[in-house]
Amino acid sequence: MATLKAVRGTRDLLPAETELWNRIEATARNVFARYRFGEIRTPLFEDTALFARGVGEETDIVSKEMYTWEDRARAQSEKPQSLTLRPENTAGVVRAYIEHKLGETGQLQKLYYIGPQFRRERPQKGRYRQFWQIGAEVIGPPSAGSESPVRDAEILEMLATLLDELHIEGWTLELNSVGSAADRERYNEVLRQALVQVQEKMCADCQRRAVTNPLRVLDCKVPEDQPIIDALPKITASLDQESKDHFAQVTAALDAAGVPYRLNPRLVRGLDYYTRTTFEFTHGGLGAQNALLGGGRYDGLSEAIGGPKAPGIGFAIGLDRLVLTLQAAQANQDFALSKGKVDVYIAPMADAKNAARLGAMNAAALVLARALRRAGLSAELGDASFRLKKSFEAADKAARRIVILGEDELDSGVLTVKDFSTGEQKKIPRGELAAHLRS
Ligand code: HAM
Repeated sequence: MATLKAVRGTRDLLPAETELWNRIEATARNVFARYRFGEIRTPLFEDTALFARGVGEETDIVSKEMYTWEDRARAQSEKPQSLTLRPENTAGVVRAYIEHKLGETGQLQKLYYIGPQFRRERPQKGRYRQFWQIGAEVIGPPSAGSESPVRDAEILEMLATLLDELHIEGWTLELNSVGSAADRERYNEVLRQALVQVQEKMCADCQRRAVTNPLRVLDCKVPEDQPIIDALPKITASLDQESKDHFAQVTAALDAAGVPYRLNPRLVRGLDYYTRTTFEFTHGGLGAQNALLGGGRYDGLSEAIGGPKAPGIGFAIGLDRLVLTLQAAQANQDFALSKGKVDVYIAPMADAKNAARLGAMNAAALVLARALRRAGLSAELGDASFRLKKSFEAADKAARRIVILGEDELDSGVLTVKDFSTGEQKKIPRGELAAHLRS
């Protein structure tokens, strides 16, 4: 029988890796709490219409990357519902905001999420079909200040702080404004006309986009097309005065806070809901998939999916890519990872031929481990049937220290502790063991 494997584009994360993931998530939760964000968890699948209307029918995500299926109809007369594994979480968060009438609180909602997303992309380094995002959204009625450029600046400043606290160095904040929906429509027309002159020199994809959705030409990665694209009119010239003012306030606040950024008028992003501020944080170490995170403002998303006016802004970090960056930089040393080692290994020792003694020593070791673990220490339990050499070998792999528990130690209440990193061996009274191990 053929052996079964994880599906292409998905992977298992084993304990050697998840420790770093958990540290990153803990750091993110800590930062979010300091900015008054609360956690939201939305379902992994939603009605397909949410993404079609929210993310946009024309986008690559919706038109070719979604995992969509028809649910079984409840009754014969009923049309089966089309469901989709979420390719991103912003649409789901806004749906929840509408469904739970969070706008009626009159308050700004600051929500974060950590969870898997699904896109049927061609897998490569940093690109998976199931991947993880850490994201956050600030959304609310305009009366709560949700449209204010203060929110944009706060989000970007928070991201700079989070990346700093994760010890990620060498990131670049790429910043742009795509203006209002009307600005974008105007710009699309400007582009369409400019492309008429040059499109025949461009790649096949660009030739198609020049007709269907000229804005997407700006995403093209084909090297030969780059000089042509760079020479096209910039979106900046198509922005109305309000969008220009908004953007000027965002950059002024970033300047004041000392958050560096690079203006990139080509940054239009691959999701249709964006308005005004758009951004990505890139990292050179990632190769082709260099976007560590992306986000922007989406002032019309709530209305596009049938909700009240609720402007918002948010981002999603690619957690898989964050991990790759930290691993490559070996910055995870800063996280003092345990490398799977616990504080102490307890090695019970007994005469292997005496079953009763073996059992008694294993029980005594369990009692000691229980006390240490309850005192907040991490411990691994050995086995009295192991000889001393085997115990030491097992302990060296699992723990930073070993405690020997034999008949003599049990009688005297004084235990031998060896520290593997220093090679030091000490006799410690049982009552002082937890304090000694903690020091
Ligand atoms: P996005 O740019 O599509 O935006 O994704 C955000 C980040 O998720 C990317 O920058 C990347 O790090 C990561 N990512 C995307 N696709 C993959 C993949 N196939 N494998 C690994 N990582 C991936 C959004 O999803 C928006 N919802 C962000 C947002 C929130 N905008 C406003 N609020």
